[in-house]
Amino acid sequence: MKTNILVTGGAGFIGSNFIPFFLERYPTYNVINLDLLTYAGNIHNLRGIQKNPRFKFIRGDICNRELVEFIFNEYSINGVIHFAAESHVDNSIKKPDVFIKTNINGTHTLVDVAYQFWMEKPFVYNHKYKNSVSPDKGTIFPRFHHISTDEVYGTLGPKGLFTESTPYAPNSPYSASKASSDMIVRSYHHTYGLNTIITNCSNNYGPKQHDEKLIPTIIRNAIKGNIIPIYGDGKNIRDWLYVLDHCKAIDLAYHNGKAGETYNIGGKNEKDNNYVAIKICQILDELKPKQKGSYRDQIKYVEDRAGHDRRYAIDAGKIENDLGWKAEENFESGILKAVEWYLEHYK
Ligand SMILES: NC(=O)c1ccc[n+]([C@@H]2O[C@H](COP(=O)([O-])OP(=O)(O)OC[C@H]3O[C@@H](n4cnc5c(N)ncnc54)[C@H](O)[C@@H]3O)[C@@H](O)[C@H]2O)c1
Repeated sequence: MKTNILVTGGAGFIGSNFIPFFLERYPTYNVINLDLLTYAGNIHNLRGIQKNPRFKFIRGDICNRELVEFIFNEYSINGVIHFAAESHVDNSIKKPDVFIKTNINGTHTLVDVAYQFWMEKPFVYNHKYKNSVSPDKGTIFPRFHHISTDEVYGTLGPKGLFTESTPYAPNSPYSASKASSDMIVRSYHHTYGLNTIITNCSNNYGPKQHDEKLIPTIIRNAIKGNIIPIYGDGKNIRDWLYVLDHCKAIDLAYHNGKAGETYNIGGKNEKDNNYVAIKICQILDELKPKQKGSYRDQIKYVEDRAGHDRRYAIDAGKIENDLGWKAEENFESGILKAVEWYLEHYK
């Protein structure tokens, strides 16, 4: 039986790192990538695989039910890995509407079509799936894997870690929309027995991230000689996760995770924004020294983001113990790779 996996949002940062990794790891899998190519999607991110016969790109909206149904029918989809989202907190503060539409309604459309296709009308769509989904049996396919964020848990004080049982307390329109989408996916498992997995990860960094995000912003402004803007006092802490470590965790959770479960993914790399900016400046000082002074001189503190969460940190014990995942990069090794990639690509 062919394995045809629908990956949404594959032209974005994490999706475009994930698909080449996944195609290489599973030579019998086909990937159908549905992506609207919003401002955040970049078809060039997929340059290396566009000619791969096991890869198909479809430009379209996850909110378009007719299109999603067509894709399930046409390709007999037997797995979904759902990355597509509006993902930038600052944009959600300025204009929340599209976050509600894509992140909540879009996720609902996908999960509902998956349910219809795999469970409710298996004979209409594809009889081979009848009775093939059991909420109790872990790795039975087809499976719907929803990619989410640690931001659903809100903010932490100086101590403590988010676990899978931390109550949801989202603070931005972005995190509220992701929290809602998590709840919808959860309900399709609980109510209908759909084979779902949710992973909530911390801040990713690495190649192909959109310019708007913190690490590309620091690198780009540094090498252009602009100010390097840091919100507030720079003491907001994130648990940085190298994107390929995240891809490996998704692969494990998708294949081996228990149906209906949530897994937190974090790099055990808590760093505040000051540390991140200074570290990048130190690397740039070595790799691309300025004629005079250090890149650090360009750091400037700017007005803080509204409602800026102070600290996120993940307890990844469950995915480590149950599925054997472990982050391979620490922040120092990962950020060096990331800076080298951006230096090569910002020409
Ligand atoms: N980047 C992170 O640090 C991080 C951390 C935790 C969770 N996440 C989650 O991981 C997922 C991927 O994040 P990312 O950083 O790669 O995001 P991104 O913004 O780089 O990419 C999102 C992709 O989704 C596509 N998209 C947006 N709306 C769409 C729609 N309506 N229909 C089809 N495609 C659409 C965009 O064109 C883009 O290619 C998101 O769900 C995000 O919430 C990201």
